[in-house]
Amino acid sequence: MRVYIATDHAGFAIKEFVKGLFEQRGYEVIDLGPESGDRVDYPDFAAKVAKAVAADPGSQGVLICGTGIGMSIAANKVPGIRAAEVHDHYTAQMARAHNDANVLCFGERVVGKGVIESIVEAWCSTQFEGGRHATRVAKIAQLEREYHGN
Ligand code: RB5
Repeated sequence: MRVYIATDHAGFAIKEFVKGLFEQRGYEVIDLGPESGDRVDYPDFAAKVAKAVAADPGSQGVLICGTGIGMSIAANKVPGIRAAEVHDHYTAQMARAHNDANVLCFGERVVGKGVIESIVEAWCSTQFEGGRHATRVAKIAQLEREYHGN
């Protein structure tokens, strides 16, 4: 499994820790920046990860900003992206099981390292359940096509 990761300045300090959590689980982690904690605009980095995931079927993304909100809003503008802002083990588990989320978003200013460990554990160990949830995810894709075309 390949995972693309990026942050803004408000998520930069936790990036190496999060990369390590995925690497420990055997993921190939591709860091799309930034390279320092200098102030940047989160949509620029959300776009890098969202476009990479959309172009690489089966891959996933991780986006970290102060709250996780701006990253998720921006990433979800890219067709094919289902970015979920999560807060804990439960929301990370449901994002995968029910929403087939392919980009994980959270806020460095919101969750600490212990919660991040449980988020990554839930994210990596949960499969999409399909069934009625696949019907709903397909409706999201249909809505996207109404605005973006095929
Ligand atoms: C940066 O101050 C902050 O606005 C950003 O990291 C993020 O929380 C936006 O949603």
